[in-house]
Amino acid sequence: MKSSHKAKHLISIDDLSSQEIQTVFGLAQKIKKSPQSYRNALQGRMFGLIFEKPSTRTWISFEVGIQSMGGGTIYLGPEDIHLGVREAVKDVARVLDRYLDGVILRTFAHETIITFEHYFHKPVINGLSDFEHPCQALADFLTIREKSSARHKPILAYIGDGNNVLNSLILLAAKLGSHVRYATPANFPPSEGVLKKVREYSRRTGAAIEAFTDPKKAVECADFVYTDIWVSMGEEAKGQSKMQSFKGFQVNRELLRGASKGVKIMHCLPAHRGEEITDEVLEGKQSIVFGQAENRLHVQKAILIHLCT
Ligand code: CP
Ligand code: NVA
Repeated sequence: MKSSHKAKHLISIDDLSSQEIQTVFGLAQKIKKSPQSYRNALQGRMFGLIFEKPSTRTWISFEVGIQSMGGGTIYLGPEDIHLGVREAVKDVARVLDRYLDGVILRTFAHETIITFEHYFHKPVINGLSDFEHPCQALADFLTIREKSSARHKPILAYIGDGNNVLNSLILLAAKLGSHVRYATPANFPPSEGVLKKVREYSRRTGAAIEAFTDPKKAVECADFVYTDIWVSMGEEAKGQSKMQSFKGFQVNRELLRGASKGVKIMHCLPAHRGEEITDEVLEGKQSIVFGQAENRLHVQKAILIHLCT
C-alpha cells in the first residue's frame, strides 16, 4: 500500500495512499461548504474529457467542477475522437499532452487508460472503465461518512454485479479499514486481482470485506445497501443471458427486512427500476441516491485540486 507519496493520476483507487484518500475527503468537505473559496483553484488550466461511453453525472460534474474553479474544458464524445480507431491511443495522448493540463477518460477497456497515461505526462483521471470507477467510489464513501454516526463503524452491503463499481468500492474500503459485505452471483464476482489486494490491505487496516452469493445474508444488519445495474455499458450483447444470473438480487422491500432499521439506500445511477432495484425503494425515504450523486461534484473538485495543483 502506497504511503507518503502524491499520486500523479487517478486510474485506480490503488493510485491513492490511505493518507491521500483522507486528504481528498477533507478537501471535498471544505469545497462543499465553501465552493466560492476555490473559484480560482484551476485558473488558466485546460482539461479534456474523452468519453467513449455516455455519461450524465461524470461528464457534467467534471465540467461544472472544472469551470467553477476557473479552468476550461473540451468534451470529446464517442463520435468525436474514435480513440484507437482513427488514430493510435499513444499518438492521441502525445498530441493532447502538448495542449492540455489534464484528461478525464471514460473507456471500454481499462487498458486504453493505462496506455494513454503512459504517453500523457499530466494528470489522467479514470471517469469509468470496464475495470474501475474510482471517482464514484470516493464520492460513495464520502456520502457514507456524512451519513454515519461517529460512534459506530457502518456496514455497507453491495448487492449485484461484481463489476467496475464493486472493484473500486472494495479496494477503497480495504484501504480505509471499512466493513463491506457484498453479494454477487457466483459467476459474476469482483476481479481476482482486486481481491488479492483487498486481502493484503485489509490485514493492515483491519477492514472486513466479506463475500456472499446470498443477498439476504449480505444485507444482515447493513447500514447502507448499494446496488448497480446488472448489465454495464459495453455488455449489451450478453445482457439477456447475464440477466438470468441475477434472480433474487433485486434490492426491494422484502430484501431490506434483514437490514438495520435506519438502512440507507445507495445507487451510483443510472438505475433500471424493476431490475436491480424497485421504484419504491429508489424513491423511498431511506434513499440517499441524489445526495450521493451530488457528492460526485465535490469529490471530483477535490481530486482535481489534489492531482493538479
Ligand atoms: N454514476 C455515473 O458514473 O453516472 P454517469 O454514467 O451518468 O456518469
Ligand atoms: N457499472 C456501470 C456503472 C455506471 C455508472 C457501467 O459500467 O455501466
